[in-house]
Amino acid sequence: MSSSVAEISTLNRANPATERRGHIQLAVVIPTFNERLNVEPLLERLTIALRGLRWEAVFVDDDSPDGTAQLVRKLAETNSHVRCIHRIGRRGLSRAVIEGIQGSCAEYVCVIDGDGQHDETKLRDMYLALSEGGADLVVGTRYADGGSVGDWDSTRAWMSSFATRLSSTVLRGHKISDPMSGFFGIRRESFEKAVRNLSGEGYKILVDIVASFPGRLNIHEVAYTFRNRMHGESKLDSAVVLEYLLLLLEKRLPKFIPARLILFAGVGATGLVVHMLMLALLHKQFLIDFSVSQATATLVAMTTNFFINNSFTYRDKRLKGAKLIGGLASFYLVCGLGAVANVGVAQAVFEQPTTWWLAAIAGVLVGTIWNFAMSNAITWGRKK
Ligand code: GDD
Ligand code: MN
Repeated sequence: MSSSVAEISTLNRANPATERRGHIQLAVVIPTFNERLNVEPLLERLTIALRGLRWEAVFVDDDSPDGTAQLVRKLAETNSHVRCIHRIGRRGLSRAVIEGIQGSCAEYVCVIDGDGQHDETKLRDMYLALSEGGADLVVGTRYADGGSVGDWDSTRAWMSSFATRLSSTVLRGHKISDPMSGFFGIRRESFEKAVRNLSGEGYKILVDIVASFPGRLNIHEVAYTFRNRMHGESKLDSAVVLEYLLLLLEKRLPKFIPARLILFAGVGATGLVVHMLMLALLHKQFLIDFSVSQATATLVAMTTNFFINNSFTYRDKRLKGAKLIGGLASFYLVCGLGAVANVGVAQAVFEQPTTWWLAAIAGVLVGTIWNFAMSNAITWGRKK
């Protein structure tokens, strides 16, 4: 018995991979989507930049069609720095980063893009700021002395600075010159304090972390120049603007109100406009019977609401093809019951000593919350 324990411990000591993984000093989390061509060049750069440190590269790939994850796993066969988290059926930069950080045990973690745009030679300064400089968070910044955005066009530069200004509403007084940065490092202890409050929405994980952290963070900055991509193209599209606004909204609202409910209610208001226009057209213009006009207007408004919600409120869970038909049917059902609830509640309140419009508002509120909760769970709730 004791001899086999001794054997195991000798085995452990003799295994360089175990030794190296035992005390990782720095984990570098690399979110990837279609970055196959960039993986090897980036690893070469990291190997040079982090020489002498015990580090690991945690790639978090969202099942890229170009086979990024497969390549990373292949490289891991011979390179013990490399690890792969392969997420299936999910997309989203922020959540990928969160999983990458959670998937490592290192005390210090840096996050870097997988396309070479961030300057990996600054990782060592980031690590030192965390491990010796007392920083809780260290941010790679393009907007400080020695940093630059590289060759961005004026629209992108303007958008970035506008988004930066907006973020100050949720940063709780922390001064960060580049809160939009995807290049930063954090002490695990600090990350853990924020992780349960993170929204995880969209691209802006750094804003999310600072907004979600209970208390003050000691933040250091490291200036760098944003480079051009090595291969491939950016995944940032117009949707990131919406996702960013959603994140800001979520951070401003009390925890029990989901930001999506606000969007859903906004879409509901457009439905009211559609409904009234339709009703006026059918009943007033074409002199169709009121109840037929009203029923048609309701159906049309539900349909437009469904499609707007599908491409806006639930763009991340968008239904397509055959699922679209099933989704629409369930949405009709949910909203039909919601209308019954609306009328029932309004009637009950109306029978109390109160005003008619309070009764109506109570009905609309209950109906909206019902519609949101049910369609959130049924129409857009099923796994893809
Ligand atoms: N796992 C995963 N899932 N990775 C993703 C996803 C996703 O849904 N979307 C993008 N990525 C990866 C990319 O493969 C890349 O490695 C990194 O995240 C950054 O994505 P890019 O598409 O290259 O973003 P960008 O260059 O336009 O934006 C960068 O600069 C912004 C500053 O203006 C990013 O660093 C942003 O985080 C940053 O805010
Ligand atoms: Mn990029």
